[in-house]
Amino acid sequence: MKVNPDKNSGVASLSPFPEGWYFIASRKAIEKEGLARKTWLGERIVVWSDGDGKVCVAEAVCPHLGSDLAPEAGGRVRNGCLVCPFHGFEYDITGQCVATPYAPAPRSARLNVFETREVEGLVFAWRGSGGRPPQWDIPAPPSGTDWSEMEFWSVRFPGHPQETTENSVDLGHLRYVHGYDSVKGVGSISVDGAWLKSCFDFRRTQTVAGIKIFTYDVSAVTHVHGLGYSFVEVREHAIGMDTRLWVLATPIDGELVEMTLVSQVRQLRRPKRPIIGMRFLPPRLRTRIMNKIIMAAQKHDVLQDVVIWGRKQYRPRPMLCRSDGEIGKYRRYCEQFYPDGQLCDARAADRLSAGTERQPDPRTR
Ligand code: FES
Ligand SMILES: [Fe+2]
Repeated sequence: MKVNPDKNSGVASLSPFPEGWYFIASRKAIEKEGLARKTWLGERIVVWSDGDGKVCVAEAVCPHLGSDLAPEAGGRVRNGCLVCPFHGFEYDITGQCVATPYAPAPRSARLNVFETREVEGLVFAWRGSGGRPPQWDIPAPPSGTDWSEMEFWSVRFPGHPQETTENSVDLGHLRYVHGYDSVKGVGSISVDGAWLKSCFDFRRTQTVAGIKIFTYDVSAVTHVHGLGYSFVEVREHAIGMDTRLWVLATPIDGELVEMTLVSQVRQLRRPKRPIIGMRFLPPRLRTRIMNKIIMAAQKHDVLQDVVIWGRKQYRPRPMLCRSDGEIGKYRRYCEQFYPDGQLCDARAADRLSAGTERQPDPRTR
C-alpha cells in the first residue's frame, strides 16, 4: 500500500538514515521469492537465502564489472549461490566469489554484504554510520509457543523513522488522533543504550453505528531498539488477551518510509468475557480471527498517523506542554543514532518546555 500525501519538506532537517537495524522481509517471504531486489536506506540491495537457514543481504552490484545482480537484470540463485547475469561469477551466502565459468574465482571478488539478524522469522540488516559494525543487538522477545501465525501489513509514505517512533512516547496524540480514553503513562520511559522502554495504559471503546459494543482496557509496553525496530507487548484486561506487535519503520530513499506491522495473538482458550459472535469457535480459529481484528485496528490507527506524518515538519525545538510525554528524553535517546554529528537538537525541547529558550543550534537549521 502506498500513501502519497503532499510532499513532506520537514524531514530534510534530520539525517535520512539513522544508524540501526532495519527490516528486510520475513524469512518465509525471502525463501518464497528466491532472489529479491529492494531499495533500502538509499541502497540497491539483493536478498536471497541458501535454503539452509542462511540469508544474504548485499549491495546489488557485481564487484567484477558492475552488473546489476537483480532478478530483473537476470541475476539468479543456483545451489544457494547468487549468479551474476553478465559473466556468470557465483557468490556464496557470505558474499565471497566461489566460482566463475572460465577461470579460478578471484579471491578479492566479494559482494558488499550487510550484517543480518533474525528475530522470530523476521530478518533485519544493519546499517552503520560510515560503515561501522553493529553497535547493539536486537534481543529475542520472551519465548512462548502459544502465539498465532503472524499477520503482516505495510504502508509507504513520506516520513522519517525518528518521527514515526516518536509517537510511542507522544501520549497526547493517543487521545487526540486515535480517540483513546484514560491514557496514562506508567512510570517514566527508561533508556539503556539503544533500548528505550515506554509503558502506558489506556481504554478504547469500539462502536458500531455509533453504539458502544465493547470497551478494551489495555496496558502496552513498547521496546524500541533503534529507530527501525519497535516491539510492543499488549495486554487487554477485559478479555484477558495478549497481543504482540512489531512496528518496523524502514527508510527507502531518503523521502519515503515503509512501515511494516506484524501482529500475533496468544491462543485464546478461556477468554474472561465471551467475545461477541465467537463464543463457539474453536480456540485456534478464534485466535486467528482476533489477530485479523487487531491488525485491522492497528492499520486504522497507523493510517490516521500517516495523514500527520506525511505532511508534518520536523521541529527540532518543539513547543511542548506538560502532558505531552517525555519527548525531550526521547530526542536525547535518538542522538546516538547519528554518530556522524548530524544530530537533532534534543536539548532544545527540554529548554523550551522549561521556558529557557536559547539561540537555535545552527546545525539543525
Ligand atoms: S559483472 Fe558480474 S560477472 Fe562480470
Ligand atoms: Fe499513533
